Amino acid sequence: MPNTSGMRCLIVDDEPRLRRVLMRLLEGEGFTCAEAGSGLEALQELAQRPAPLVISDLRMPEMDGVSLLREIVVRWPDTAVIVVTAVAEVESAVACLQMGALDYVAKPFHLEEVRARVSQALDKRRLLIENRSYQKNLEERVEVQARRIEELFLEGVHALVFALEAKDAYTRGHSMRVANYSVEIARALKLDTDLVETIALGAELHDVGKIGVSESVLHKAGKLSADEYRHIMEHTVIGARILGPLMRDAPGALSIVRSHHERLDGRGFPDGLEGDAIPFEARVVSVADAFDAMTSVRPYRPSLSVEQAIHELEHGKSVQFDPAVVDAFCQAFVGNLALPIPTPQLQPLRLPTPAMEARRA
Ligand SMILES: [Fe+2]
Repeated sequence: MPNTSGMRCLIVDDEPRLRRVLMRLLEGEGFTCAEAGSGLEALQELAQRPAPLVISDLRMPEMDGVSLLREIVVRWPDTAVIVVTAVAEVESAVACLQMGALDYVAKPFHLEEVRARVSQALDKRRLLIENRSYQKNLEERVEVQARRIEELFLEGVHALVFALEAKDAYTRGHSMRVANYSVEIARALKLDTDLVETIALGAELHDVGKIGVSESVLHKAGKLSADEYRHIMEHTVIGARILGPLMRDAPGALSIVRSHHERLDGRGFPDGLEGDAIPFEARVVSVADAFDAMTSVRPYRPSLSVEQAIHELEHGKSVQFDPAVVDAFCQAFVGNLALPIPTPQLQPLRLPTPAMEARRA
């Protein structure tokens, strides 16, 4: 018998004589006993003072043992219940075991048998509680680890964004605007929330590879040579290479970093993908990126007006840009010729977590 000294036990039976027999036995084992003449009384007793062990008859007035067991399993899951049955009620006893009773004793019972059943039930109860607590601890630990992994991911990504900002002040504002345009396009296309988040993340990071581009080329005021242009375009591959290890669980966002300069006609960078071979997320960001680049002043050229930029997007439909994405952009920002296009408000980085990406995958 496990250490039962002072452990509370509630004995539920409508026959006072049987209660007394059981109480004497259990008090002899060190239990402190309480008694109840019906299920209802037992519930009142437990509500006042829960007990780790309940021994209950099945047939009782007011509330029978089955109904009592049902209540106990829900309200006091750590309480071990042993039911006492007549031999003819074995089926009911089995039903009780299925409902969560830990054991049963058939009447007329031998005291030795009751002692053995109680001992076993308390062992089972201890194991169940330990198991539950182990599982809860494990779940909590996994949750803490998952949160930490997400934090590390965000810290890593932020470090890259800050590094690029230090090198190229234009990129920060550009990335935020592209992310905001992209999110509006995605919403106009009625994409699901997780995909919108993926597009926001990829858009915010799309130019991170410029960290690896020579500053003299990045800030050059004059026209770029073909080699210099190719060098700048390498930021797609560099970005994907830098972010790859960090974003193994975010393939959608990573594809934006690599493929946002692809063109529908296959003449884009870095892979010359054509049409639907270009990841859809990248086709969305490509339109937002082009619009913001065209309407921003750069060291090497003045900005285009919003009308001119829209004209260029329309002109590039099916050649450079996905026509459905250009239409969604116009729907989101132009509406019924309601120019000028509002400047999207800059918001803090809204980076979805790897877990979010994983859900989407
Ligand atoms: Fe870019």
